[in-house]
Amino acid sequence: MGFVPLLLLSFLSTLVIPSMAQPSRVKIGALFTYNSTIGRSAKAAIEMAMADVNADPRVLNGSHLDVLMQDTNCSGFLGTIEALQLMENEVVAILGPQSSEIAHIIANVANELNVPLLSFAATDPTLSSLQYRPFFLRTTLSDQFQMSAIADIVSYFGWREVVSIFTDNDYGRGGTISLGDALNGKRMKISYKAAIPPGANQDRISDALVQVNLMESRVYVVHVNPDSGLEIFRAAKNLGMMGSRYVWIVTDWLASVLDSYLQPDSEIMDVIQGVLVLRQHVPDSNLKRAFVSRWNKVNAGIGLNTYGLYAYDSVWLTAYAIDRFLREGDIIAFSSDSKLNNTTGSAINLSSLKLFDRG
Ligand SMILES: *[C@@H]1O[C@H](CO)[C@@H](O)[C@H](O)[C@H]1NC(C)=O
Ligand SMILES: *[C@@H]1O[C@H](CO)[C@@H](O)[C@H](O)[C@H]1NC(C)=O
Ligand SMILES: *[C@@H]1O[C@H](CO)[C@@H](O)[C@H](O)[C@H]1NC(C)=O
Ligand SMILES: *[C@@H]1O[C@H](CO)[C@@H](O)[C@H](O)[C@H]1NC(C)=O
Ligand SMILES: *[C@@H]1O[C@H](CO)[C@@H](O)[C@H](O)[C@H]1NC(C)=O
Ligand SMILES: *[C@@H]1O[C@H](CO)[C@@H](O)[C@H](O)[C@H]1NC(C)=O
Repeated sequence: MGFVPLLLLSFLSTLVIPSMAQPSRVKIGALFTYNSTIGRSAKAAIEMAMADVNADPRVLNGSHLDVLMQDTNCSGFLGTIEALQLMENEVVAILGPQSSEIAHIIANVANELNVPLLSFAATDPTLSSLQYRPFFLRTTLSDQFQMSAIADIVSYFGWREVVSIFTDNDYGRGGTISLGDALNGKRMKISYKAAIPPGANQDRISDALVQVNLMESRVYVVHVNPDSGLEIFRAAKNLGMMGSRYVWIVTDWLASVLDSYLQPDSEIMDVIQGVLVLRQHVPDSNLKRAFVSRWNKVNAGIGLNTYGLYAYDSVWLTAYAIDRFLREGDIIAFSSDSKLNNTTGSAINLSSLKLFDRG
């Protein structure tokens, strides 16, 4: 009796082998924070791109592209663990991560396991380092480009010094270093750096701005997280720092926030009155117009920002790459990493990781 299922199984597996070259499904991962300015746009964009790819017979020759999405919820810890979980699920690429902080950590994993990360939102210029090659790919622009543009603006108006106000994380610090380099190249400088801790409350932000207000330079460059950045202008307004004697130059995070609103929000427009905002340029084209009008039909209520566009393109980029990989006769297969041999005794069970209660 015991033989029957065995025979059936081996019969099935011989049937499966000939179609191995064209897998029925191909899995990719996606790693970002759902409840965030960038994440809301990216999620809708990725879903739209998946549907478009799977409906297009010209790409992937019938293989279905699956995306396993994970919500990093603004946490470096969760993002890292979830990246490992995606790798465990044998994904051939990961879209993301959204945050530069997580990118710094998991680029090492990607490079060890040969699984490309296509980050549509990690803009920290230091991620361009060869250290993160070749499996960390940026499908957005490095902040180096907007920092050069800011240096040009500052130089044009003949200001010699600026104050940098930034979130004290990899994104904020990396951007500030890049701004400093761009200014130095034009014999200008950052005269004061005001680092705002991630998640700072109103009091903490006000304290930082009071310090900033004591500085001679009244030219401020604000490079902070889209999800908390407006608090800075609310605090600045309370401190009377939004008047005509002050110059506020803001990186593209604010453009993403504004693009996320379907209608301008009057409270926000009031609080940011007079600031100069940089925005990534996506040239107008028939393709873009058609996309935007389709977006408005499919994603009612969700604003499209530039990172949404990058996320959409990243899915297509991945699909084309996998398509080519398969057409060239490659097979999707995974093998054990010999460097991990000695960890098999521990067989990481994530739910068995414990908090040190009084640590
Ligand atoms: C989303 O984030 C905002 C703060 O950024 C928070 O107030 C809100 O409760 C969050 N919503 C969910 C569903 O987690
Ligand atoms: C996200 O993180 C916040 C605070 O860290 C927490 O309150 C919230 O429950 C988390 N949301 C999800 C969906 O895990
Ligand atoms: C597409 O897949 C079919 C099997 O489903 C296979 O016969 C054919 O050779 C594939 N075409 C290309 C271009 O790989
Ligand atoms: C690791 O294990 C594989 C088989 O699982 C073996 O081929 C390889 O030699 C081992 N490497 C080391 C360094 O022990
Ligand atoms: C694996 O661990 C054993 C002892 O636990 C050690 O002798 C050996 O060198 C280790 N191998 C590698 C590849 O690290
Ligand atoms: C993983 O750890 C949890 C908590 O220690 C335990 O309940 C669970 O059985 C473990 N799972 C496996 C597959 O070992």
